[in-house]
Amino acid sequence: MKNCKLSWALVIVLSIIVAVLGYKFTKGEVQPSDDGRQAVMLTKDERNALLLEMRNWLQSSQGILAAASEKDYAGVIKSARASGMAAEADTPGSLFRKIPVEMKALGFGTRKKFDEIAADAEEFKDSGRIVSKLSVAMNNCIACHATYRFIEVKP
Ligand code: HEC
Repeated sequence: MKNCKLSWALVIVLSIIVAVLGYKFTKGEVQPSDDGRQAVMLTKDERNALLLEMRNWLQSSQGILAAASEKDYAGVIKSARASGMAAEADTPGSLFRKIPVEMKALGFGTRKKFDEIAADAEEFKDSGRIVSKLSVAMNNCIACHATYRFIEVKP
């Protein structure tokens, strides 16, 4: 009977730990920002890594448009792949805990859309489709920028 009580206590304690960790993972390292957005609190290196990723996304978007306007489908594929899921390996692992789950979904969703643009360009070679897919993908840029910002904190 005593043992039974002890294991129940253990189950409860473990459940609480799992719930707290799960909550932290979902919520991320965020604070309300004075501009009405959510501020994701990052170290200097993490923030720099993400801003570099952002500039790559901007460069890929421009590269896709420039190549599509010349019907250069190999160029579209190259620019799109540079921002696809394969490039995710460059993202520091520590960010997984700090970025809220909705933001992660938007980020992965954007990478997936770049991969879809590459696959579409390969299959259909249709610049109109590419431009329209990029314009849909860029709604992710707008949605995330409207909701989040990065703030640097000391580690
Ligand atoms: C998952 C969220 C998210 C998505 C999706 C996203 N961004 Fe960002 N981006 C941010 C945040 C947060 C910042 C920092 C803004 C701030 O702190 O005010 C930022 C900053 C930037 C910057 C500034 C970089 C610098 O060096 O200062 C550029 C350029 C940029 N984003 C381009 C893009 C483009 C293009 C896309 C879409 C293809 C995109 N972003 C999609 C979250 C996102």
